Amino acid sequence: MELFERSRRGENALLIHPHRGGVDEDAEQEFAELARSAGAQVVASLGARIDRPSPATFIGSGKVEEAKMLADATGADLVLVDHALTPVQERNLEKALGRRVVDRTGLILDIFALRARSHEGKLQVELAQLRHLATRLVRGWTHLERQRGGSIGLRGPGETQLETDRRLLQKRVDMLQKRLGKVEVQQAQMRRARERNALPRVALVGYTNAGKSTLFNALTGASVYAEDQLFATLDPTVRRLRLPGAGTLVLSDTVGFVRDLPHELVAAFRSTLSEAREADLLLHLVDAADPLREERIAQVDAVLEEIGAGEIPQLLLFNKIDRIEGADARHEPEAPGGRERIWLSAQRGDGIDLLRETLDARFRLRRVGGELHLPPEAGRLHARLHAAGGVVAETLGEDGWRMRLDMPLTVAERIAAEPDAAPLRALLPPRDDVD
Ligand code: GTP
Repeated sequence: MELFERSRRGENALLIHPHRGGVDEDAEQEFAELARSAGAQVVASLGARIDRPSPATFIGSGKVEEAKMLADATGADLVLVDHALTPVQERNLEKALGRRVVDRTGLILDIFALRARSHEGKLQVELAQLRHLATRLVRGWTHLERQRGGSIGLRGPGETQLETDRRLLQKRVDMLQKRLGKVEVQQAQMRRARERNALPRVALVGYTNAGKSTLFNALTGASVYAEDQLFATLDPTVRRLRLPGAGTLVLSDTVGFVRDLPHELVAAFRSTLSEAREADLLLHLVDAADPLREERIAQVDAVLEEIGAGEIPQLLLFNKIDRIEGADARHEPEAPGGRERIWLSAQRGDGIDLLRETLDARFRLRRVGGELHLPPEAGRLHARLHAAGGVVAETLGEDGWRMRLDMPLTVAERIAAEPDAAPLRALLPPRDDVD
């Protein structure tokens, strides 16, 4: 008997939410959204209290039976488990449930595969997927080998097939890595070119669906794919942002963050994450209408910490005020918690001017200028300062160069962090005076 009508489109999924006692509704809701993002229809959910994970099935045999009954009753053809599973657990579950089983990492990889747009993004997703698959194939194979005890005569075509699969997989991984290496070199060159242009960098970060692409479009007039789907943005998108006083900034949109970003993905999204890591300022976008916004902020902060961007100054942007009754666009230089905050609506355009003015003031004020004497042996630093466009005037004498500088503070700081840049460091204000 079927309790629910099967949908015609997409796969019907049963979701399993493992927990340690105490249901986390936020996590359950997010996982359901991830499943929908991957094109699945959620037909049923099952909580599973896990005190000690079962090595064989993770959720334990009692829960497996319950899941099987529920899957049969609801016509689920796919089971999604909100936790990382070992290859063995995944395989055992598939056998016991008679359906395809995908764990959290597999699901997220799947969504990324659907959404990747740039050449690099696609390569990175495929590489991450193959790596995920490789652990499963390889372990599956050794597992079989152990069962057979390597006996002569029992080595059948199945095993040969697995070996062939592994070899093909490895070849594809090598090829992808080579291609990616090339793309990464190109990207690094582009970044260096930007640095030569000496533009301060601002990166949009935030929980997935916070409205980053919408704000990016509103600020730059560009048309970036914005959709009410998780991970509409996979690849960093970079545009110039011109401001009347501060001049030009480089603004990049980045991938949406999620709770517990799988490690495979941290590696796979190096390029989008490096936009965040190398930024001078992070615009941390928050869906202000989300009842869980404080948790979201903390989760994004945790990911930023993990990728080495925890120390970069942030401006919190509370977006979607059109969804909050009585909320107006406003700027709070000292919001509770000590962070600067702007309330706005990227979609309606409320508060966009306020944001532009705040950015303008911030980067206009943050410049360094003054006289600098460089000895002849400081040729490298001399070249860097010129390349950064920071030299207003200079004379060359016996004892080296006397230069007058004027450049964005962030650019000067970046150059000052390089080796052989001691003379420049003396010109910079102590860190505490900066803000
Ligand atoms: P990811 O790519 O998943 O990280 O998403 P994102 O942060 O780039 O979000 P995106 O700009 O795609 O917006 C997500 C959804 O929120 C879309 O449906 C937008 O139309 C909507 N949205 C964005 N800004 C606002 C806003 O100010 N108000 C309202 N009501 N909706 C908004």
